[in-house]
Amino acid sequence: MNQAYPEANVHTFLPLPPRSLTAPPPPYHLPTLIGTYSHLSDRTIVHDDTSMPYYRKAPVGCDLNYGFERRIERDEDLEEHLDGLCESLMEIEQRNGRPALRQGSFITWRGMITRIMTAPFEERDGWEMTAIPLGGSIYVELHDPPDVRQRRRKEQSSWAWQSYMGYSFESFSTFPPAGEAQSPDWPQGWSGDVNQNIQWCNIVRSAIGDIPLCLGGEVDCVNVPPGSPHPGLLGCMELKTNKVIENQKQDIIFNKKLLKHWAQSFLLGVPTVEVGFRDDDGILRSQTSFETVKIPRLVAAIPQPPWSPAPCFHFLHAVLNLVLTHVLPTDPTPKRPLQEHEPLPDAMVWRFSFVPRRGCELYKVGTVK
Ligand code: A3P
Ligand code: MG
Ligand code: MG
Repeated sequence: MNQAYPEANVHTFLPLPPRSLTAPPPPYHLPTLIGTYSHLSDRTIVHDDTSMPYYRKAPVGCDLNYGFERRIERDEDLEEHLDGLCESLMEIEQRNGRPALRQGSFITWRGMITRIMTAPFEERDGWEMTAIPLGGSIYVELHDPPDVRQRRRKEQSSWAWQSYMGYSFESFSTFPPAGEAQSPDWPQGWSGDVNQNIQWCNIVRSAIGDIPLCLGGEVDCVNVPPGSPHPGLLGCMELKTNKVIENQKQDIIFNKKLLKHWAQSFLLGVPTVEVGFRDDDGILRSQTSFETVKIPRLVAAIPQPPWSPAPCFHFLHAVLNLVLTHVLPTDPTPKRPLQEHEPLPDAMVWRFSFVPRRGCELYKVGTVK
């Protein structure tokens, strides 16, 4: 991208809602699945369910450190932007012969909406996102400048082992992919070495209040017999790992973490979150399945609940409404069909950033070719 940034100017500031807010928020519509695609082991994309893993319960006692030396990590320097999602949307539109989305839709990764939605309870991590209006939609992605990425990479490397156990739990919790060679040396339940390039993405349409959303996100597995077709969102599962909870402090931390687990799965319409609890040595001790929609009630029932969903939905709607109101009118796309070979006009680039405990600021940044 060839970017020319005049001096950024703060456009609007949106404070966080009070954490105690209970007023009914704008409803989040039940997500509808509109497509899927798969990243293969070399990161190429196919527009089908090749990389859809099938769930089977991991054996208690399995060692989540297994295979660490053979793991393949995703190349973080590869800037994919929203490419997979956009490519898939074009595929869906071609297949259906009509537009996949309503005018004024936000097109983004589920992870971006999770970040916005959980911001009212976020204590530590700020973020910055880019919003570009084009063709009647607003494309949103993380703004990830090199210094921020460098810092994150450093942080991640100190968590590498813990992070790996999340992936190895996925391998132990799924069947080996059909047609892949299996080794007699593998421990019980192992379905193949971790390759972070492989991902199965689901694309849903939803809305918060009257603001349409199109979200793409990875789904960890489906809970149907191996070889079955995609069972729909109701058959999808999210897998997580956590340290075994042995004291009140760990219980408080877990209940805080449930906010992100809930938001991540709720936004995509994934009904089940299974948490694998491991000990300090990385041995799986137990699993618990949570019904996504019941997580807020579970947390509300504990003394001094660390979060509640109402401020999250209010803030999500307020942020998206702010962005929509200012950004969509700057869409340079002509309201008529483009002529053959007519160059696309330069797009307007906006940013919005979040500072924990403060709120969200919207900036106009410049144009991009
Ligand atoms: P856990 O979920 O058990 O923490 P996801 O849960 O979203 O499917 O991601 C799978 C695993 O990737 C996670 O396992 C975690 O280990 C790792 N992971 C996800 N997001 C991460 C991040 N921002 N930084 C480091 N590791 C991350
Ligand atoms: Mg995942
Ligand atoms: Mg997971």
